[in-house]
Amino acid sequence: MVLIERDSFASKLGIIAAAAGSAIGLGNIWKFPYIVGENGGGAFLIVYLFCIAIIGLPVMLSEFLIGRKAQKNAIGAFKSIKPGSPWYLTGIAGVASAFIILSFYSVVAGWVFSYISRSVTGTLIKVAPDQLGGYFDGLISGVVEPIFWQFIVMFLTAFIIVRGIKEGIEKYSKILMPILLGLLVVLMIRSVTLEGASKGLEFLFKPDFSSLKATGVLEALGHAFFSLSLGMGTMITYGSYIKKDENLGTTALQVTIADTAIALMAGIVIFPAVFAYGFPTDSGPSLIFITLPAVFQSMPLGGFFQALFFILVGIASLTSTISILEVVVAFFTEEFNIPRKKATILIAGIIFIIGIPSALSFGALSEFKIFGKTYFDIFDFTASNVLLPLGGLLISLFVGWAWGIKQALKEATNEGTVRLPLSGAYGFITKYLAPVGISIILLYATGILSRIIEL
Ligand code: PHE
Repeated sequence: MVLIERDSFASKLGIIAAAAGSAIGLGNIWKFPYIVGENGGGAFLIVYLFCIAIIGLPVMLSEFLIGRKAQKNAIGAFKSIKPGSPWYLTGIAGVASAFIILSFYSVVAGWVFSYISRSVTGTLIKVAPDQLGGYFDGLISGVVEPIFWQFIVMFLTAFIIVRGIKEGIEKYSKILMPILLGLLVVLMIRSVTLEGASKGLEFLFKPDFSSLKATGVLEALGHAFFSLSLGMGTMITYGSYIKKDENLGTTALQVTIADTAIALMAGIVIFPAVFAYGFPTDSGPSLIFITLPAVFQSMPLGGFFQALFFILVGIASLTSTISILEVVVAFFTEEFNIPRKKATILIAGIIFIIGIPSALSFGALSEFKIFGKTYFDIFDFTASNVLLPLGGLLISLFVGWAWGIKQALKEATNEGTVRLPLSGAYGFITKYLAPVGISIILLYATGILSRIIEL
């Protein structure tokens, strides 16, 4: 057998940039603020942080460990660690989730790219604050524009993925992520110094548990998985490109902290502005496309900062879309020996087509509803709140019971050469707490638990 050396990340910084690049994306800047808003603010935030620390971080470590141990894609990894067992189905579910997530994610990223073009050409800054809502609706309810921009996103994603790990994913992530951080700091300062900003900070940080519903708890858990890119094999795939001497515990911790910090910063940018301008907190997916342009209008050089901001959000979304596409491409190239370029173009094309109804969900197909949800909402809800937590559950069970904590810890400590702090807690969470906790939340929020108790 001829062994072709697997592509891998070249540097420590590259790994962090790529994994944090995957984690940090529309989930942090677009979705996090709006679901905090819909779920009443501070109380939701606390539950979210809890899910990140207690469940998200250990699951991320588990994914890295599985990937690096096996040096394989998200399906091949399960086959290689436990040959002949059905655990590889976890990977298959992950690849299916990747198709679904990328199909609607690319639609929202498309809106961002449209806003890039509108802010670079100076048209967006001229829209009066009270017209911004209608302006945004005009974009997303169209036919040609949403589909065109979604296509551009899939094209750019494929363009990077064809180039591979070092020259594609790593190179781009390393340049782009630090710029995003710097810009968020500038925006944060602007937003908290707006008149009336303190109400927004209060909304974000002052918990009111009476506004928290059961579905809110599920959403917090689902979003923890979504935001950290967990439960579908992204970090298994990226872990497989990490060298054997890297400290995976530290890497998982750094990525988790970076992701959470960026989400909080996005919240600190958005909510003071929402309150300062009197926008509703629960305006959902349109939140960043309407409130932020209003903030930019009140800033010196607002047009410039606005263009920069949307460019960076566009970039943050690309470092995430590439990580989703990579899960599927790695699988098809490794398991079926399809050349990378061919696999990338084919899969990106299929995902683009699956995504078209999502792109039309705010206009032509807005009346088409199943269980009261549009096509877009169904994809988002099923993937984030059901498939990803389920994936996380299976991954924890796999590490805790099938592969075994002892073996996993060998990988985590690089065969005993580095330390994994709190390894006892990691083992306990992975074996018991995460599986039980995720199951309860899933059953509770879907109403199955109450039916069981009634019986
Ligand atoms: N974590 C990404 C974000 O927050 C989205 C994502 C989900 C990426 C699942 C990969 C896997 O935007």
